[in-house]
Amino acid sequence: SGVWAVIPAAGRGRRFGGELPKQYLQVAGAPLIAHALDAVLSHPAVQGAIVVIAADDPHWPGWTQRAGKPVHACIGGDERADSVLAGLQGLPREVAGDAWVLVHDAARPNLATGDLDRLLATALASGDGAILAAPVRDTLKRAGSDGAIDRTEPREQLWRALTPQLFRRDVLARALESAAAAGVAVTDEAMAIERVGGNVRLVEGREDNIKVTTPADLALVEFLLSRRAD
Ligand code: CTP
Ligand code: MG
Repeated sequence: SGVWAVIPAAGRGRRFGGELPKQYLQVAGAPLIAHALDAVLSHPAVQGAIVVIAADDPHWPGWTQRAGKPVHACIGGDERADSVLAGLQGLPREVAGDAWVLVHDAARPNLATGDLDRLLATALASGDGAILAAPVRDTLKRAGSDGAIDRTEPREQLWRALTPQLFRRDVLARALESAAAAGVAVTDEAMAIERVGGNVRLVEGREDNIKVTTPADLALVEFLLSRRAD
């Protein structure tokens, strides 16, 4: 059975600012969300996607298919984890409880096919799931309360979590429900699985799989995406 994608797109983009939520900004001829959605749907293993939008979202274009595959939509929640859980619950009934689901940010438009390939191969081979991640490159400083450096933290085993993140539908839904019931704020899917003792594999992904968070990120993905189209 195939993989389905959940695309959380219910955020307000507060750090980005502006009227239009960042996932709908045009970059290299299409909204960010179209790049993110098409990047996952273009993989042969991915059967379809559900996009999770905000309750009062007038900007959602209402796509029902892209790249020849079905696209569903449902309403998200206050936090990203609430939106992802809503997406899992909103998947079509044909999607089995043990089906693999990949969660990919609407605001992450520059996913490379090769990264998605390696993520799928790793997750499907062993373990409870896998995520794309990038090793930390900068030297890490812990700040004291006076704003001066307290000390330098070793970075050897530290990774930045990217998306997609790939888990089985029911396992992820139960882990997110458990975190919500315990009042634990999880900032990615892996954190919910880690919390319940799951074994999540790290798959090294490209550094240019950038999440657009601020306007500076937008300039960067505009450059990357227009260069790719050449
Ligand atoms: N997201 C979501 N539901 C939420 C919050 C975020 O579906 N309640 C989505 C965003 O739309 C985005 C992805 O999760 O595609 C990553 O979140 P982030 O970059 O933090 O986006 P925003 O929450 O919109 O931005 P900010 O935190 O600056 O407000
Ligand atoms: Mg956010």
